[in-house]
Amino acid sequence: MGALDGKRVLLCVGGGIAAYKSAELVRQFIAAGASVQVAMTKAALEFISPLTLQTLSKQRVATDILSVSDDAEIGHIRIGDEADAVIVAPATAGLISRMASGMADDVVTAALLVTTAPVVVAPAMNTNMLEHPAVRENLDRLAGFGHRIVAPDSGELACGYEGPGRLPDPRVLVEETVAALSDRDLAGFRVLVSAGPTREPLDPVRFISNRSSGRMGYAVAEAAQRRGAEVTLVSGPVALAPPRGCRVIHVETAAEMNEAMRAHVVASDLVVMVAAVADYRMAEASPSKIKKHDGGLKLVLERTEDILTGISRARGRRVVVGFAAETEDLIENAVSKLTRKGLDLIVANDVTEEGSGFDTETNSAVLIDASGTQERTGLIAKTELAELILDRSTGLLIERGLAAQRA
Ligand code: CTP
Repeated sequence: MGALDGKRVLLCVGGGIAAYKSAELVRQFIAAGASVQVAMTKAALEFISPLTLQTLSKQRVATDILSVSDDAEIGHIRIGDEADAVIVAPATAGLISRMASGMADDVVTAALLVTTAPVVVAPAMNTNMLEHPAVRENLDRLAGFGHRIVAPDSGELACGYEGPGRLPDPRVLVEETVAALSDRDLAGFRVLVSAGPTREPLDPVRFISNRSSGRMGYAVAEAAQRRGAEVTLVSGPVALAPPRGCRVIHVETAAEMNEAMRAHVVASDLVVMVAAVADYRMAEASPSKIKKHDGGLKLVLERTEDILTGISRARGRRVVVGFAAETEDLIENAVSKLTRKGLDLIVANDVTEEGSGFDTETNSAVLIDASGTQERTGLIAKTELAELILDRSTGLLIERGLAAQRA
């Protein structure tokens, strides 16, 4: 049994002297049980023959984005789509820069834009190039995309320099790929996330809403997708780009959000209800613009449905996570919501705290589970809180035996 049994690895070879090591890398991946599809940049072709890699991988090597030889098949889309893991080795300064700026000017960069699989990047280049701020910045950007950056080895370089810049041993690169795949602890799970505010119309031009930016919910959806889940995101109106690889359903009102959540809850193992749903809507929204008159204006509001309570009542074995936005008595109110709404986990947020709550990049929360265990996060990035919520939720999925069922 190899660590990569049945996995499809896409090996993207950049044009550096270390490209010659890709032959051994293909052999090591195959020895670990993987099947290997190789893609090469034009520059890589100068360093190693595609025939060598084709012979070792027993698969046609992709070298040309505009190849018309395959029956109507779009090569870079297929190889990007099919991969369970992608490794870029050696990643040269030029290739890293093209990846960081989202270029798609050859089969390698195009496939890298297509894939939603984990990507391992193994930089190899001259020490000074590696330490140049432009390269460092580009690598940070790739790390920000969720790519796993492998630290280069130090030693004597082909260019005569001594220092970091060598491509690590192929065995290390295989291990890094295995590690990138094992970060995918939500593979096979279906996660339903709600995010953003809802808007309840008063008349055709006005609405009641709240300050939710959607960032927290989008961070949860993105992190779950990166960890291998199939994600459906039900989003109220926000100014954020849809997260990659997630199915996004846009809604406006609480009633629409309720409908969308109900439609997708059945096909989900984990529900994370992050949305700031309006609790009230107009009993009857005015069909025409409300005109102003002397004196005040009274609006008659009615309650919206509590989406989370509905979901948790019909939960089955599903794990259900909610949020509590509070301005006072944080723990007391959150615990009461957890019990009242029948949740497995609640993320309690004091929205009056500096840097926490609505429309910020950060959050400070207390995670409380049904057994009463409390975990204070301190002020952390919303992306980090998203990972923590998913760590706890994965634990609950395992406890409930759902993980074993998927394995
Ligand atoms: N929620 C929901 N449907 C609503 C209101 C809230 O599903 N109509 C969900 C939120 O998405 C969140 C949790 O319930 O996960 C708690 O939301 P919060 O606004 O903190 O609490 P409320 O239930 O609205 O209670 P209150 O306004 O009294 O604090």
